[in-house]
Amino acid sequence: LITNIILFAFAYLIGSIPFALLIGKLFYNTDIREHGSGNVGTSNTFRILGKKAGIIVLICDLFKGAIPVWVALLAGSDITVLFFGLVAALGHVCSIFIKFKGGKAVATGGGAILAYAPIVFIILLATFLIILYISKYVSLASVSASIVFLIVSLFTKDIPLIVVAVVLAVVIIVKHISNMKRIKEGTEPKVSFLTKKRE
Ligand code: G3P
Repeated sequence: LITNIILFAFAYLIGSIPFALLIGKLFYNTDIREHGSGNVGTSNTFRILGKKAGIIVLICDLFKGAIPVWVALLAGSDITVLFFGLVAALGHVCSIFIKFKGGKAVATGGGAILAYAPIVFIILLATFLIILYISKYVSLASVSASIVFLIVSLFTKDIPLIVVAVVLAVVIIVKHISNMKRIKEGTEPKVSFLTKKRE
């Protein structure tokens, strides 16, 4: 029990580290929360701070989800290891370091899935990339991937995966309500490097 409590605390704390905010403040003297969508996440980092910062935040946020799963595996936890990844993703959304605010759980949730079920991750990544390529909206790609995750999880009959898929889909959809409103209004920004190519 003690091991599991420590693992959950570790997962929450590592998930809480707001890399987009940290990297923006440390290297770009920019508070990511005051720019673009204001989201402390990978997409907004790409948008505001550029490719290099975006890739670094993406990798850090993916690892935040994956590391608790790997650590729980190594520690031989008797709880399904994916749950530690879920807690990291929730830490990313409700970070103890930034007054329980945070990102939208996409990269961190993705990292957890990558560590637990790599094939499912590849399916979700493909979904994300296809929808991103077609629509040019990261937010729509994220929401679509979360819905596909829900559908795929049902096919696996893996109960922990289904539970995590339900929680993540709800969190991701709720966190993207403002994006969906902007898409409807036509004010959601499209990914510039994809749109530039076509113009
Ligand atoms: O991962 C978050 C992404 O789906 C949307 O981010 O900054 O466009 O609200 P943002």
